[in-house]
Amino acid sequence: MAFSYSLPYLFLFSMIVMTTSVSVHGQCLEDQEAALLGLKSEWKFDPSHSKKLVHWNQSYDCCSWDGVKCFHGHVIWLDLSNESISGEISISSNLFSLDYLTKLDLNSNSLVA
Ligand SMILES: *[C@@H]1O[C@H](CO)[C@@H](O)[C@H](O)[C@H]1NC(C)=O
Ligand SMILES: *[C@@H]1O[C@H](CO)[C@@H](O)[C@H](O)[C@H]1NC(C)=O
Repeated sequence: MAFSYSLPYLFLFSMIVMTTSVSVHGQCLEDQEAALLGLKSEWKFDPSHSKKLVHWNQSYDCCSWDGVKCFHGHVIWLDLSNESISGEISISSNLFSLDYLTKLDLNSNSLVA
């Protein structure tokens, strides 16, 4: 049997490939998730005053976490203002593993650099 490229089949096939890659691999890249979880554990915050950080949960894609926006699986935007975060941002902070970060809002916290 000779190959015949039928447009509807090609379309169907690419739909299946796209759906599979989204549902199996998720959106968030592993190193990005690890860095965010690292931040959550390196910072102190008051869970009763936190509206975003406190809800970060590994059961869900980290790009869907509150205060996080991604582009192609990389965290590009982090908004954690007024989350009652305290502590220090050291040179070894997980923050600096977020290489693609273009917007960072940590206003109204008690962080020192
Ligand atoms: C910060 O959060 C507190 C409670 O968590 C709220 O009362 C206050 O209005 C918030 N401030 C800003 C600037 O959003
Ligand atoms: C994360 O979400 C799952 C599924 O909704 C839930 O069972 C689990 O308790 C959550 N974990 C935390 C730490 O909130």
